[in-house]
Amino acid sequence: MKNRKGIILAGGSGTRLYPLTLALSKQLMPVYDKPMIYYPISALMMAGIREVLIITTPRDSQSFQDLLGDGSKWGMRFEYMIQENPNGLAEAFILGEDFIGEDNVALILGDNLFYGENLQRILTKANSDEDHSTIFGYTVKDPERYGVVEMDEEGNAISIVEKPEHPRTNLAVPGLYFYTNDVVEIAKNVQPSERGELEITSVNEEYMKRKQLKVVKLGRGMAWFDTGTHDALIETAQFVQTIEKRQGLLICSPDEIAYDNGWIRKSDLRELALPLKKTEYGKSLLALSEGEI
Ligand code: TTP
Repeated sequence: MKNRKGIILAGGSGTRLYPLTLALSKQLMPVYDKPMIYYPISALMMAGIREVLIITTPRDSQSFQDLLGDGSKWGMRFEYMIQENPNGLAEAFILGEDFIGEDNVALILGDNLFYGENLQRILTKANSDEDHSTIFGYTVKDPERYGVVEMDEEGNAISIVEKPEHPRTNLAVPGLYFYTNDVVEIAKNVQPSERGELEITSVNEEYMKRKQLKVVKLGRGMAWFDTGTHDALIETAQFVQTIEKRQGLLICSPDEIAYDNGWIRKSDLRELALPLKKTEYGKSLLALSEGEI
């Protein structure tokens, strides 16, 4: 199978979270018990992706590196890159050209959280489709705030409109995209939009033109949040708190997923857990490393 790399876009300006983000990146903020960027890292890990490029602002790059290191603690490999200005999501593939090389690639936005029963299966399936690019569709009440996708019966995307006044469906496109290697060339040909950004929708439109864009609908049981506003930040945190307290299981813990994936050993997990043992997060990992759950 062709390898797939991952990119996390953790730059941006975070103006909807001002004044929180005046001195610190949104993706370093807490979502209940862990930093926001743990959630998109977990999604890529669940898909089986081990090599990840983390794109940040110049200001916060060092903090991300302090937090995450080279990825080896989770059996992964992280590279870092700076995006000088928030020029749009599609710039990720231009910045990441050398990192991507000959491989396929998945892009996830640094403020997106996915959680649900069948998630791992859905993500590994998207990862293993080497011939198409895949985006997702998530039912929302207010599609006009998002990119909205329409699909045919075979799961092909047939229209995508950014923030439509009159949405044709209620399927929003979340910030997780699986692309074939030609995304680099496609991104290089994207022209900046009216707001001056290289839009991911332009990339998706090109794949649609080539009849290579699949849409996978995320069903009722799936949770998708983007945490870009004050309300969304606390609502997402409350979701994580509610489920974790009720089940005693962790939502999107890279430590746990690394262990589940067989990328680290039980003894490694214990080493990771020990410094965190005063927290429920650490206790949960310790219990896992002792075979209690
Ligand atoms: P957005 O929500 O479009 O923008 P933002 O997070 O910078 O916030 P705001 O609208 O409040 O000013 O970005 C979505 C995600 O993508 C977020 O994690 C930031 C990231 N991003 C980049 O890393 N580079 C970019 O050029 C853009 C546009 C976004």
